[in-house]
Amino acid sequence: CGIVGYIGNREASDILVEGLSKLEYRGYDSAGVAILNNNNLGLRKYKGRLQILKDNLEKQPVKGNTGIGHTRWATHGEPSDKNSHPHANTSGNIAVVHNGIIENYMEIKEKLKVNGYNCVSETDTEVIAHLIDMYYENDLVEAVQKAVKELEGAYALGVINKENPDKLIAVRKDSPLIIGIGEDENFIASDIPAVLKYTRNIFIMEDGEMAIVRKNDITLMTTFGRPVEKEVYTVNWDVEAAEKGGYDHFMLKEIFEQPKAVKDTLSPRLNKQNDIRLDDITLTKEDLDNINRVYIVACGTAYHAGLLGKNLIQKYVNVPVIAEVGSEFRYNDPFIDNKTLMIIVSQSGETADTLAALRMAKEKGARTLAVTNVVGSTISREADDVFYTWAGPEIAVASTKAYTTQLVSMALISLDMANKKGTISNSMYHDLIDELRDTPAKIDKILDTSDEIKKLAEEIYNKDHIFYIGRGIDHDVAREGSLKLKEISYIHSEAMPAGELKHGTIALIEDGTPVIALATQDKLYDKTVSNIKEVSARGAKVIALSMLKNKEIDQSADRVIYIPNIIDDLAPIVSVVPLQILAYHVATLKGADVDKPRNLAKSVTVE
Ligand code: G6P
Repeated sequence: CGIVGYIGNREASDILVEGLSKLEYRGYDSAGVAILNNNNLGLRKYKGRLQILKDNLEKQPVKGNTGIGHTRWATHGEPSDKNSHPHANTSGNIAVVHNGIIENYMEIKEKLKVNGYNCVSETDTEVIAHLIDMYYENDLVEAVQKAVKELEGAYALGVINKENPDKLIAVRKDSPLIIGIGEDENFIASDIPAVLKYTRNIFIMEDGEMAIVRKNDITLMTTFGRPVEKEVYTVNWDVEAAEKGGYDHFMLKEIFEQPKAVKDTLSPRLNKQNDIRLDDITLTKEDLDNINRVYIVACGTAYHAGLLGKNLIQKYVNVPVIAEVGSEFRYNDPFIDNKTLMIIVSQSGETADTLAALRMAKEKGARTLAVTNVVGSTISREADDVFYTWAGPEIAVASTKAYTTQLVSMALISLDMANKKGTISNSMYHDLIDELRDTPAKIDKILDTSDEIKKLAEEIYNKDHIFYIGRGIDHDVAREGSLKLKEISYIHSEAMPAGELKHGTIALIEDGTPVIALATQDKLYDKTVSNIKEVSARGAKVIALSMLKNKEIDQSADRVIYIPNIIDDLAPIVSVVPLQILAYHVATLKGADVDKPRNLAKSVTVE
């Protein structure tokens, strides 16, 4: 989502709409504004692209010089007028825009209910407006402070109130927020592009901070009321660079967003006792006991994520799992009946082959569960249950953060199924959850080594063929690494099970052929090292990818990428990241159009 706020002398609606137009790349399910004018709070919000809001504002203008606006990427609640932001309290004198996810919104909803407040939308945001109302006793700042103390999760907030037309309040925790400093006017926004037309001077808010923004004054403090001093940051990017958060490409930005995306997908699904709580999935123990076969169907990167699901479900839930690509599934006479669970994985929720597979499975009586990133997408609407990856909008065609969040989703779904069925020990279940919680920090460590990975890219970017090998789930990640490379660098690349190479493909290994060898799995480590030696002996230049604990692998490989130690079953969430970075650097060294590779589309709606 994107948020904007304005206070000054100009028509707020013009500035909000202009700002939102610069944020549309962050999601465009719906858009809305709330504007204060002469003791009136005008609210306009519509499902659909920003143009719809614009058209409506032309027909029925809302005058006023203070306001907040929002463009939405749905997480809680489908895209609709009602679920659009801003959200107001019942009497309509407080309006709130929000980015992020409020994890405990259900509990707050209950509490509000007891106090006579009823929510009209399905969103996690609306509770904030009521909560502020509940605490409001003539002091808006105090009411906001009290309200945010109860919020768990991530939020960037913009708040206005009819009784306080001279101020706009902004609060930040784990979701970006900036204040644009103007003359006789000030701005708030989730991202710099929204204000760049009006000012290049900004304050960057940190977690736990709030700002009271007036026309001629900005007061910064913590949410506990302690004053905060900040330096003005002067932006020297152009608008295009600003949309990419200062990164050269959306793909790189999205690679670097992975710690946050993984956290956003994970944390709302774990409770304080470290148990998985999938409110979105209605499958009960009885339903699971009735299931004797699972299909996982997806295309491209989503299929590679499905492969981890296959491994984890077979291992921990003790049910046979067949993973297939969407374009093949329907023609392979699948065994489907009412004892089948069909898991569909799709970032966009619109891929034609995947959707056709879902419809066929439904027709044959399967129970269906979709894992998707787009709320309200066709697949999300048609599946019995939906599990959302909360990666946020992914813009680069080559999928990165959607993939890692799909892996996390696969882990959560399998562990939850295993726990419900009693097929996993309690200690294993909690060990895996603890490890999941550590994955964002581990991904961060790898992001720090981007420059070192770039050096490896310099060694291989002018090659014509590159092979990826690995065994077990390392092979699944090898496939994803290879796909990333060929998608954006146009280098021919293949991923092979490391033990299968000798049955044919090894004939292609020549002096200097790069082979990227994944060896993260303990039980397969020695065998993979033998395969590394096989290709080395034939002249391959081996870049091994292993965990820090396997230091000695540097004796068998020419180069090594080390990832932090992690429990084997969850290694893909971390091990794919250096491969994404490698593919990215190779492609940029080749001067390729990284974000829009030739012949490809982000969402493929033809069969
Ligand atoms: C296209 C994209 C891929 C994606 C695949 C499946 O081919 O280029 O990056 O993995 O579709 O897309 P979905 O939206 O179903 O995950």
